[in-house]
Amino acid sequence: MDRGQNKLFYIRTFGCQMNEHDSVKITGLLASLGFTKTDRPEHAGLLLFNTCTIRQKAHDKAFSEIGRAVVFKNNGSGPLIGVCGCVAQEEGARLLSRFPAIDLVFGPDQIYKLPALLEMVKTQKRPAVATELINAADDYHFLDALETTKLNGPCAYVTIMKGCNSQCAYCIVPQVRGAEVYRSPRDIIREIEFLAERGCREVTLLGQNVNSYPEFGALIRQVAQNTGVDRIRFTSPHPKDVREDLIEEYAVNPKLCPHIHLPLQSGSDLVLRKMQRAYNTKTYRVKVEKLRRARPEIAITTDMIVGFPGEDEAEFQKSLDFVQEIQFDSLFGFAYSPRPGTEAAEIKETVPQEVKDERLQKLFQVQNEISLNKNQRHVGLIEPVLVEGRDKRGQGKLRGRNPQNKVVNFPGQEGCRGDIVEVRVTRALSYSLEGECERHG
Ligand code: SAH
Ligand code: SF4
Ligand code: F3S
Repeated sequence: MDRGQNKLFYIRTFGCQMNEHDSVKITGLLASLGFTKTDRPEHAGLLLFNTCTIRQKAHDKAFSEIGRAVVFKNNGSGPLIGVCGCVAQEEGARLLSRFPAIDLVFGPDQIYKLPALLEMVKTQKRPAVATELINAADDYHFLDALETTKLNGPCAYVTIMKGCNSQCAYCIVPQVRGAEVYRSPRDIIREIEFLAERGCREVTLLGQNVNSYPEFGALIRQVAQNTGVDRIRFTSPHPKDVREDLIEEYAVNPKLCPHIHLPLQSGSDLVLRKMQRAYNTKTYRVKVEKLRRARPEIAITTDMIVGFPGEDEAEFQKSLDFVQEIQFDSLFGFAYSPRPGTEAAEIKETVPQEVKDERLQKLFQVQNEISLNKNQRHVGLIEPVLVEGRDKRGQGKLRGRNPQNKVVNFPGQEGCRGDIVEVRVTRALSYSLEGECERHG
């Protein structure tokens, strides 16, 4: 296959919303170069892997997918292969010695250079590697949605900052995403308005530590006042940066949805200190109370890590107890995974894998009951649901989310996509709600 001719590309995305969104940006960039996306890697002239390395499993998955792609290439012909995202940032040129078939390695801060990098690979006929982290605000290029960016339904992400200045002992993100850089409110508002004009109704402000954005509350207020979107969300905030201005926004701003994903990680103060999370259960509890006072219907969701080095049964029990006390709406739980270059990876007192797995199961057991309980409180209520598309389980229903970010499935016509409809909740499951359409809102 002639490498210059085939303008079909395939992109596989792993990891968090930052990567999801980076893939949207990459897709828009490639579309402006005349590329078209395909779901069939065997047809593509360009294969991209947007990778994640948050846990060892994610890293292994990236390697095995790249390994599988390499077979599309024989004797130098076949598609161009590019690796981006956090494994690209972590491994850099080492990826080329491991997988000589790779043509292109670029990190999250280098996406804007993709057109130039592709040109370089073509003309110089050798691999290109671009993994410089950009930590100076003046040099950073935030990518805007383009005319070529395809809106994926009525919801969109908008990046407001990049990187992370925290140093949680277990986390590789600061290494692979670099320091925090904030985008100007003017550019953020302009992008959201551009999206709103093209049918976007819900925006999620995005950043690895999104609420360390200076005057975050004021930014949310500006988005509400100066753009046409109906709903504003954000992810992920850090508990330490939940400040009065944000809490106040929950009280006064109806466009700010009543949901916050507030990663707790552990319910043991000892473990939280070892993790360097910069809060304890007491300060976390106070923030939850304030949020609930500001917006009583707020849903609070979280992330937990089990089996952090030195976590014994008693410390783990404190996590279970605190989860029971706070009553989260839902929770993502992870078994601790040592990451190269992090502080925690050096700690000798490790928890055996079976114990981690057992603890995770216990945690899920406790949470499933709480989630179901929380969801049952919605039964009988009529709630505004933003319709995103078809139900993922293929039952011919529509799928949307209520203000609390809970998935609601209900029978209805495809034409409602992008509408906010009134749905009566008829049934609660642990992970979603079911309902019936009352009327268009
Ligand atoms: N920036 C966000 C989320 C970072 S990654 C925050 O600080 O809240 C998403 C989640 O992955 C984390 O909240 C944490 O629960 C989990 N995680 C991060 N590093 C991990 C590791 N080394 N092992 C297991 N889970 C990890
Ligand atoms: Fe990782 Fe902590 Fe930064 Fe979150 S705040 S990305 S967990 S270092
Ligand atoms: Fe993974 Fe990178 Fe996100 S490591 S979780 S894709 S910031």
